[in-house]
Formats: sequence, structure tokens, C-alpha cells
Amino acid sequence: MKKILYGGDYNPNQWPEEIWQEDMRMFHLANINSTTINVFSWAKIQPSENVYDFSELDKIVQLLSDEKKEIVMATSTGALPAWLFKKYPEVGRTDYQGRQHKFGHRHNACPNSLVYQKYAQALAEKLAQRYGDNPNIAYWHVNNEYGGECYCENCTKAFRVWLQDHYKTLDQLNAAWNTEFWGHTIYEWDEIVAPNELGDGMSDYRSAFAGMSLDYCRFNSDAILNNYKMERDAIKKIVPQAAVTTNLMGTFKGLDYFKWAKEMDIISWDNYPAYNTPWSIVAMNHELMRGLKDQPFLLMEQTPSQQNWQPYNSLKKPGQMRAQSYQTLAHGGDSIQFFQLRRSVGACEKFHGAVIEHVGHEHTRVFGEVAELGEELTRLDELVGATSQAEVGVIFDWENYWGLEYTSGPNIDLRYVDQIHKYYRYFYENHIPAQMISVDSDFSKYKFIVAPVLYLMKAGLGEKMTEFVKNGGTLLTTYMSGIVNESDNVYLGGYPGPLREVSGIWVEEIDALAPEQTNTVQLKNGTSGTGKLVADLIHLETAESLGEYTSNFYAGMPMATVNHFGAGLAYYFGTDLSDNLLNEILDQAVSQANVQPLLNEKTKLEITQRFSQEKVFTFILNLSAEEQVLPAEFAGKVDVLKNQMLNSKQNVPAFASYLIVDKRS
Ligand code: GLA
Ligand code: ZN
Repeated sequence: MKKILYGGDYNPNQWPEEIWQEDMRMFHLANINSTTINVFSWAKIQPSENVYDFSELDKIVQLLSDEKKEIVMATSTGALPAWLFKKYPEVGRTDYQGRQHKFGHRHNACPNSLVYQKYAQALAEKLAQRYGDNPNIAYWHVNNEYGGECYCENCTKAFRVWLQDHYKTLDQLNAAWNTEFWGHTIYEWDEIVAPNELGDGMSDYRSAFAGMSLDYCRFNSDAILNNYKMERDAIKKIVPQAAVTTNLMGTFKGLDYFKWAKEMDIISWDNYPAYNTPWSIVAMNHELMRGLKDQPFLLMEQTPSQQNWQPYNSLKKPGQMRAQSYQTLAHGGDSIQFFQLRRSVGACEKFHGAVIEHVGHEHTRVFGEVAELGEELTRLDELVGATSQAEVGVIFDWENYWGLEYTSGPNIDLRYVDQIHKYYRYFYENHIPAQMISVDSDFSKYKFIVAPVLYLMKAGLGEKMTEFVKNGGTLLTTYMSGIVNESDNVYLGGYPGPLREVSGIWVEEIDALAPEQTNTVQLKNGTSGTGKLVADLIHLETAESLGEYTSNFYAGMPMATVNHFGAGLAYYFGTDLSDNLLNEILDQAVSQANVQPLLNEKTKLEITQRFSQEKVFTFILNLSAEEQVLPAEFAGKVDVLKNQMLNSKQNVPAFASYLIVDKRS
């Protein structure tokens, strides 16, 4: 039967066996129905090169199976055992500074080490052989939070092979990397070196040859993906029906998650907002994870209250964890899982929150809140698998992320995720569902596509966007779009290159503004505001101006434009607009595109919907520490979480979460 998985990372191997029974008692009290085990146990289950010892894991699996817990079985390959490093130092990574690492830490394997590959694959296979027929295993969790890069000799050799595969000839490679610049022409494949700080990488992680660095990102993402696939295939060879995942990390830069998603049976991810992370960022991250496969995902980890690894690890306030959990479900989560179930006694995560705290009993605030949520989730089975709908698509593209942040100039403060969030936030705050999509998505499903700072555009994308607008879609794009191709070489003939025709403008120059500098700007109707970060010097071709700069030597030139193209409209923002102007232009663009909000009333509450075949689930979330007014249209509806009628005279308390279930019309 479908149910919301509720539980999290469980490390009984760190505790004496007497404690395990006590854990089971407490899990029962909190309605915990699942546990993720064996995440960092490689050293325990393989104490030396030729010895495997599953005796403790057998007991853990038996106990959890007797207790009818769902098991998320991890493969343990996220942290290498000491003996492996000692015997084969090549399993370790060489970092961006060129230092070869010793034993220590985790997430530390060289992805191209054949020794690492051999032992990781063998371990995954042994686990599948031993536990593959256990019906309690709901998911296989390969490795943990894959990421990072290695620049060792093995990786360099593998990079050359990847390049040979990709470019076929050195002429093509030299052209792609524009190696005539600084006389970097490559005549033999083995002249190529990995672009870290010892090579063409720069100390601020930018690159003298962004085309090369971009290729290294692609190569590294592929290499680590191959590690994942290798373990996945080892499991599936033995358990063909296994559902395999690995825990992703939202907008993490290093891996092209859209590519990864194709190899994963279900997306799972770890959500760790800081005390001051805007909720719109968390919502965007969830939407990105949901958007990878356009399917519900698993929340693999969140903390019940506190973290340890951020600079300021504030407690979650009463109700905040519950509200954060409902936000997860609202955006497509089908599980709520914590890191971790019992708080660790030593090492760097002893201050990390857990369901069971150091005091060891259930009479704690955190445990009480976990148990309250656990009870509510037992009544929400019908949510599992429910889908989302949106008329707005926001493009997120890892290659563009890399490209934009590798480039030298024009402004170091241009950060990809901040830029995407700036536009996502408008839709979030206006209760307009917006999905995160890739450049390969079917644009025709959306009325409105938002593509900020689309700096790097692969071949064909310009045509695809032009077609979308021609057919009646509305496109919003901005400064730093349409600049380079997939090798970071500029589209000649005027910015924004492949978007020039559809946006009906020519950008002649791009000014950069330091943090203390702003331009004043004004809309046609007289509303004034500011423009920051960058300022495009725009010439109108077929577009009309929405407003002009009123300061600087380009005063009088357009700062934002709209172009009627075919049956659609293309908006272009030439500068990072102040919120009042961004809101005003988008309010108009959205209404012109006939995009409908879920609610017309202004409120700070988050309103989000999911849909099953028969039902609409409307989440009303107060993610703030202040009371909010209940929007009139929800008065008289029943909140199924507490089974209470919502009353218009009653305010929504801090961190309150409501769920209304309606029949689909
Ligand atoms: C990550 C890891 C976990 C744990 C948590 C702590 O998400 O996957 O093993 O270290 O961080 O927040
Ligand atoms: Zn390496």
C-alpha cells in the first residue's frame, strides 16, 4: 500500500545493542515507519581487503524487518575505509590546489580510480546478494551526496579519453577551446592537463579557458554518474525490480542533475535551509528536484531541529519543522525523513539535531513535534504520487550555471542561483505555480517561460525559444543571455545572439555596477526605481521600450523591452531591476499571458496544490514566525490535518499548516 515514508538515517552500528530495542519503542511512539541504514559502514562490513562481515548488519536488518519498518538500504560507499587508502593511495582525490589527499573525511573517492570502482561495485553486489530478497527494502540508496572533483593523473587520463570521444579530432578541440588565445594549441592528446589551479583554473575558481573548464565539469559529472550507474547496475543485476536512488542536494553546482535524473528510479534529496534562507528558495529547490523527472520525490534528509555545520545553527522554532515538512509535501515530496534518528555521541555531528536527543527519552520538545507529525502523516496516504500543475516554467540549466560562473567578467556578483531565485520568487509570492524545467523540456506545456541569465545556449535552443514565442508563448529573459555557445565562444553579430530576433533588440555594451553603484531607471508610466549589477546598452530593433535609464551616460536608452513576435511576447530586462519595477512589469506580463494565480488576495502565506486523479490538495502554510490573516476564500473549509473548520475571524498562527482536500472538478 502507498504510504508516506517517515523516518530517516539510523545508525545502530554506532550504539550498543541494548539501545536498539529502546529505539524501536520510541520509533513506534512517533509513527516512524522507515529507516535509512548502512550509509557509512564500509569499514565495518569490509574490515579488510578480502574479508566481509555482515553479522551486525544482518541483525539490524532482521530487527527492522521484524518491526515491519521500510528499509532504505544504503551501499556505504560514501566514505572509504582506512585500509583501502593505506594499500591503494590512488583511491584518494587530488584537489583543485593539486594536493593529493590522505585518508580522512568522506565523499572522498577519486571517481576514476579503478581500485575504488572495483571495491565499490563488489560491495554493492554483495549487499544485493545478501539482502536483495528482503521485502522490507523499499529503496536502494547508492553512496551519499555525490559531489566534488578530482584532478589526479588517473582523472587527467580519463578526461583525455572523454575529450577524444567528444571531439574526435584535436582540430575540433582546439577550435572549441579557442586555444589560439595565449598560444595554448594542443598537438598531442597527452598534452592536455586538468584545469585546476596548477593549470588553466584560476584561484577564484574561474578559468582562463572556460571551454576547457566546462568540459571538465561535464566530464566530472559523467564520471561520478558512471560510479552511480556501476553500483546501480550491480544491484539491479541481482534485484531487477530494485528502486534505486541517491540523495541529491538541490541546486548543488557540481553535477548536472537533469542528466542524472534519467538514471535514477526516483529522485531523493537533502533539505538543509539555514536560519535565514528565504522559504521561496526552499520551494524553488523542491520544485527543481520535482522537476528533474517531473515526478514526486523523496525527502531523504532534513534535521528535526538543529544543524551543526552552518555558522549559526539555530533551533527550529515550535511548529517550524512541521511547516517545513508540509512545504516539502506540497511541492511533491512523498516522504519525510530526518538526519538523524538518534543523536551521535561523538565526532562532528554530535550537535546535529536528531529525533532522539542525548537525554535519551521521549519527553523532549523535538520528539513531541516529530510524533505529532508522524500521527498526521498516517492519514495522508492518498497524497503519495499526487502531481503538480503549472502554467509557468522557469529554466534551470547546469551547463549555463557553470558557464556563467566560470566566465571572467563582467561582474563577479552575478550568481546563477540568486538570479533564478529572483524571478522564481515573484511567482512564489504571487501564488502562481511555477515549475523548474530544463532547456530540453517541452516548452509548449507552458504559457510563460522564464529564462534569466541564459548566458550559455546550446545549438538549437535559440530556435526553440523563438518558436515558443511565435506560437503564442510569453518569454522573459534578461541581461547576460544568448552570449555564448556550449564551448563558451561568443555568438558573433550582436548580443543577445540567438535571442536577438525574438527579443527584437541589439545590446551594444554591458556595463557592470559595483555593489555601491546603482542606476536610476523609470518605466514609461513614470514609476521609478533602480537597476543594479549589470546594465545593457540596448538598441530597439522591433521591440518597444518599457522604460529607460535616467542616470549614467546611457540615460534615455531602454532598460527593459517587450517584443511582439508571431503570436507571442518576448520580454527582456537589461538590468537587475528593483522589486517595485520587476513586480509591475511582471504583473502586467502575467495577466496579458492569462496566467492564473491560485489566490488573488495578497498574503504572506504559501499556497500550493497537488493533484491526484480525484482530488485537489491545497496546502496553506504560514512559514513565518508571525500570525497571518486567513484569506477569505478558505474560511469555512476543513483543515484535514487537525480536522478543524477554518474560521475567517481566526488568524493563522506562526508556522501553522493547513491542508484542504477537495474533489477535482
Ligand atoms: C548530509 C549528509 C548526512 C549528514 C547531514 C548533516 O546531508 O548526507 O550524512 O552529514 O548532512 O546535516
Ligand atoms: Zn582522480
